[in-house]
Amino acid sequence: MIAGNWKMNHGAADAADFFKKLKGEVSTTPKNVEVLVCAPFTSLAASVDAAKGIKTIHVGAQNMHFEASGAYTGEVSAEMLKETGCSHVLVGHSERRQYFAETDETVNLKTKKALTEGIVPVVCVGELLEERKADKHFDVVTTQVEAAFKDVSAKDAATIVIAYEPVWAIGTGEVATPEQAQEMHAHIRSVLGKLYDTGVADTIRILYGGSMKPSNAPELLGQKDVDGGLIGGASLKADSFNELIQAAEKASS
Ligand code: PGA
Repeated sequence: MIAGNWKMNHGAADAADFFKKLKGEVSTTPKNVEVLVCAPFTSLAASVDAAKGIKTIHVGAQNMHFEASGAYTGEVSAEMLKETGCSHVLVGHSERRQYFAETDETVNLKTKKALTEGIVPVVCVGELLEERKADKHFDVVTTQVEAAFKDVSAKDAATIVIAYEPVWAIGTGEVATPEQAQEMHAHIRSVLGKLYDTGVADTIRILYGGSMKPSNAPELLGQKDVDGGLIGGASLKADSFNELIQAAEKASS
């Protein structure tokens, strides 16, 4: 899976323009690669509309509330996302954890709510630089994964997508080495194996995120336990996003 995270970029007009260009770039339906674009709320309807005609492209949101409705000024529910045509939602991105008080508990509530509504949660986990320096990265990510999957059945768990995004690599140009990515992805899969079983652990897709771009994607995507990428900066332009899709196609063949 190649998933773009536009963050607070691309309003509705830019979103429509992106998909128009992407349709020109993607000559055939990407084989063995699911493509997802996570757009800002106000660009979702335009994105869903503009993405029609590219079969394997999904549109997702970057956040949602875990309640169905009510007095939550500024929030958007899973039902609303579904109505807009979203199939996926990012949950617990590090920027949400850092700037918007997202906790392991709300990540779990949002994950369960998305599952109930048939929206695929893309659960983001990853350690801070000081946690890696202190050699706590495996423990930190274990805690985040266990918390996100709390009270989630094996059947539902198998549909979840995880994105491992070391916070020190996000938007910094500093990418994890393929070995660092593989090591953590294998660790996450072993945590999932203990929570469920190896069948479920092998089914769950684990994406790498953090300064992924066309030049470093082939090596990262070539790692055994790296099932795709969650891409910020390099997802904003249709041509580089398409290069990432092609890199994933090559890695999967
Ligand atoms: P980046 O962002 O690719 O710009 O580092 C990744 C992300 O935050 O999802």
